Amino acid sequence: MSMKYRLHVSLWALSRRLFTKGHKRLAFLVKVTNYFFHKALLPCEAIVGERLVLDHYALGVVIHPNVTIGDDVRIYHHVTIAGEMPIGALERVVIGNRVVLGANSIILPRAYQGLSIGDDAIVGAGSVVTRDVPARAIVVGVPARVTRMRDDIDS
Ligand SMILES: CC(C)(COP(=O)(O)OP(=O)(O)OC[C@H]1O[C@@H](n2cnc3c(N)ncnc32)[C@H](O)[C@@H]1OP(=O)(O)O)[C@@H](O)C(=O)NCCC(=O)NCCS
Repeated sequence: MSMKYRLHVSLWALSRRLFTKGHKRLAFLVKVTNYFFHKALLPCEAIVGERLVLDHYALGVVIHPNVTIGDDVRIYHHVTIAGEMPIGALERVVIGNRVVLGANSIILPRAYQGLSIGDDAIVGAGSVVTRDVPARAIVVGVPARVTRMRDDIDS
């Protein structure tokens, strides 16, 4: 196992496990503990893949409960993954595998709608993503637009 500090990710996984086993109060307690130490709101309702990296101790990361995150995703500090749908609604924000969400980026679907970010996409620092992002795209700006497709990975 990596010697990197990953307590924030482990606490998130623990709260998620407690939540899925029906221990909702305990799950909430772990979530609040995580917030206390890391100043990040990582909901136990969210579905999170393997090997997630929350850089800079997840500082300021805020994630809506209706979010699914794939494997090998990297999220920098002060990222918000938002949503104006009720918790548990069918609409979800789906972050694909190996996606990078740059510092201060905001994933902001339209009200009561979901949004997806394709595998291997990169969201530039400070961007506001309001629409689906294709796989392998690099998007930047407010609102975020595709600047190019990645050429550094095998298809
Ligand atoms: C978007 C990013 C991945 C670079 O992608 P890239 O395709 O290699 O982009 P380049 O550096 O070649 O720049 C291409 C253009 O996009 C602009 N650009 C790059 N990143 C940008 C951003 N976050 N917001 C707005 N414009 C950006 C560049 O200024 C350049 O514009 P120009 O063509 O008018 O000169 C990178 O800039 C980024 O934001 N990474 C996020 C990582 C992060 O948050 N790290 C934090 C560490 S603490």
